[in-house]
Amino acid sequence: MRLRGLATDPLAFGSVVAEESQRPPEFWQERVQRGASAPDSSLWVLGRPYGPFLGTVTVSRVEGRFQVFGMWLDPALRGRGWGSRLLDTALRWFDRAAPGTPLTLEVNPRQGPAMALYRRRGFRPTGETRPLGHTAGEFVVELVRRPKTSGNARRGPSATSRAWPSHPPQGSRAPAPRRRPRYRP
Ligand SMILES: CC(C)(COP(=O)(O)OP(=O)(O)OC[C@H]1O[C@@H](n2cnc3c(N)ncnc32)[C@H](O)[C@@H]1OP(=O)(O)O)[C@@H](O)C(=O)NCCC(=O)NCCS
Repeated sequence: MRLRGLATDPLAFGSVVAEESQRPPEFWQERVQRGASAPDSSLWVLGRPYGPFLGTVTVSRVEGRFQVFGMWLDPALRGRGWGSRLLDTALRWFDRAAPGTPLTLEVNPRQGPAMALYRRRGFRPTGETRPLGHTAGEFVVELVRRPKTSGNARRGPSATSRAWPSHPPQGSRAPAPRRRPRYRP
């Protein structure tokens, strides 16, 4: 599914098929095993037990922060609410596993349905952006879903009232990176 996702939606993710298709089976096994059993990681798959697998999303703690990675749905199923259900399932797990914790992700604002989905689920721009890396001119924005009642976790009104980002028109410049690269979704 990961390789299919990179092929069908190359601008949605931080790596490319040519790179990830080189990974050995052990890499994928370790990733699935961690997502199935680690207390701070959860990998969800939409499909039948022995396939076909039609969609996936992962929530993992990386470098001390919980993040959403690799959200993808088979193009044939899109626009019918399956992506929303998949994300809701992961969010339910997250709210039980790490209550009161912010959840972040990075998304290319060109991915309209993903942006709509994240916004509806309470994710808001932090103002951080960085280049997508493998394609010149493309960039990702960071979104955060803050706990509803967090007392001291909020950064203040600016964290939730920023303008919703949109992708610049073709040919315009992406904003300059404002933070160092991290794990690529
Ligand atoms: C993101 C993705 C998983 C959403 O799955 P989906 O099943 O199509 O989503 P849903 O049908 O649940 O709809 C989610 C939202 O997108 C909107 N949407 C769906 N299709 C759309 C389209 N073609 N254009 C604009 N918005 C659309 C829906 O209206 C909904 O928004 P709402 O909750 O405000 O009504 C799927 O589009 C996908 O795999 N995209 C490519 C990979 C990607 O962008 N991943 C994100 C990486 S960060």
